[in-house]
Amino acid sequence: MTETVQLIKKRASIRAFTDEALTEDQLQALIDCALASPTGMNLQNWHFCFVKTKAVFEEIEAYLVNRILSGGNEKIKALIASRNNRIFFNGALVIFITTKDGGSLVEAGIAAENIVLAAESMGLGSCILGGCREAFEAERGDYFKKLAGFPEGYEFAAAVTIGHPAISATPHALCPDKVTVI
Ligand SMILES: Cc1cc2nc3c(=O)[nH]c(=O)nc-3n(C[C@H](O)[C@H](O)[C@H](O)COP(=O)(O)O)c2cc1C
Repeated sequence: MTETVQLIKKRASIRAFTDEALTEDQLQALIDCALASPTGMNLQNWHFCFVKTKAVFEEIEAYLVNRILSGGNEKIKALIASRNNRIFFNGALVIFITTKDGGSLVEAGIAAENIVLAAESMGLGSCILGGCREAFEAERGDYFKKLAGFPEGYEFAAAVTIGHPAISATPHALCPDKVTVI
């Protein structure tokens, strides 16, 4: 197995981070790996908001948690409680991947995977996030888009929270029956 294959197989989502910040080199490597992602016809119809100002994503988190806790969906309430009522898990950095003009979720997903594998290779933990989409689509959507630095006309596609792991996690089981080889 190559180092890359080993890295891919050992990654698992991390949902608790220490207070340690990332270094400038780590930040730059993550930026480079996001920008190295492929897109159809190399159109690059995305924009990455690298948010290391915790007050920004903690405000979004507080809004989302409050929305969930005051809503009627008991299943999502239980899920969020099992995650200590955290959305970004005290990450040192949250990256919002945004797209415009037909930039696709596939392309955002590819960028997210580039980012999490780069993080893993540097000994950092990460978790891809889709659930925070609601903050950018509900009544305060425009406010949160501005707060997180979305350029005009860009919409939320995915997010990634990254930091120094406070816990370890086991990679999910592989399901060979999800594959056909002919
Ligand atoms: C598109 C997408 C959206 C996700 N959204 C969330 C989320 O909102 N919150 C969360 O805690 N995890 C989220 N995850 C992480 C998944 O729950 C996780 O990848 C899955 O359980 C498999 O575990 P693993 O990452 O450890 O292999 C998301 C993952 C993907 C790919």
